[in-house]
Amino acid sequence: MPEHVITITVIDRENHTHCLEAPTDMGLSLMELCKSYGLPVKGTCGGMALCSTCHVYVLSEHELPPPSDDELAALDSAFFVKTNSRLSCQIRLRDELEGLRVELAPESE
Ligand code: FES
Repeated sequence: MPEHVITITVIDRENHTHCLEAPTDMGLSLMELCKSYGLPVKGTCGGMALCSTCHVYVLSEHELPPPSDDELAALDSAFFVKTNSRLSCQIRLRDELEGLRVELAPESE
């Protein structure tokens, strides 16, 4: 695996598993990565933590930075929220996230 590329596993809404190679030196978010792989993540607000269409469940034990107030507010009005809910647009890809495993939350719209 070249430097600055990690592997992230995404389980889609049909329960299919996708292994994504993620560059960590481009400032991309997990939402942007999923979209670039054609996964059904809308990201309607473009990563502003407003729309919650990029809602995922974090399945692995990775330490993620705590959600911002904006993220908490967006999740507060989202559907199907669980304790491991996060907005994938707020998860910045970095080397420490090697092996991260997430599942796409159901669509709420
Ligand atoms: Fe809108 Fe993440 S893209 S909240």
